Amino acid sequence: MTIQACIFDLDGVICDTAHYHYLAWKQLADELGFEFTKEDNERLKGVSRMDSLDILLEIGQLTVDEETKLVFADRKNQVYVDFIRQIGPEEILDGIKPFLVALRARGIKIALGSVSKNAEMILNNLQLKSYFDVIIDGTKITNAKPDPEVFLRGAQELSVTPDACVVFEDAYSGIEAAIRAGMKCVGVGDPDILGRADKIISGFQDVKLSLLSEIEDVGRET
Ligand code: BG6
Ligand code: MG
Repeated sequence: MTIQACIFDLDGVICDTAHYHYLAWKQLADELGFEFTKEDNERLKGVSRMDSLDILLEIGQLTVDEETKLVFADRKNQVYVDFIRQIGPEEILDGIKPFLVALRARGIKIALGSVSKNAEMILNNLQLKSYFDVIIDGTKITNAKPDPEVFLRGAQELSVTPDACVVFEDAYSGIEAAIRAGMKCVGVGDPDILGRADKIISGFQDVKLSLLSEIEDVGRET
């Protein structure tokens, strides 16, 4: 099937906000009095805010009621938003903008598929919003990755079938979501974590449109 659309995750693919998520969760863990490492943080990538909090509390071996969870999640988001409020186009990861421009020139549709509720603010600050035909974010979906909802919604709003889409993801849960959606997927980052992707790239610096034809031909074991 010819690729007709690209769906991009945001945090860790378009910009390095994954790092700010980590710093904000780490600050909450510090305040609650337990250690939270970068390795622990891998489990939170692509996972919704409340699901991330559950994992964090499990790591800290803390049990709290639902009301307290909301207070903790708000606190983390406050710290996170303080970081992202200040970001600008210089935070767009290398190669992303030329790739988006090339996709548009070729007539490939472009969607954002992020579970973040802060996605709109980030895209605005990066001045990238106009590159996306469709934006699906955490305010529009009910099931976070690895559920395929965010990507299926993207395909639906772009009016393309899932098998004509390729997803770009930096998170294990995101690769899983793309596979469940019946889409091709490109992992951006560590092959040890993203091993199930159809192809893995370290970043977008040298990525050409020929990548799309390469992955059109990849068969997947079921
Ligand atoms: C994802 C991140 O994009 O968004 C997760 O990978 C994050 O780490 C999730 O928890 C939700 O983000 P937010 O901005 O709504 O707290
Ligand atoms: Mg991500």
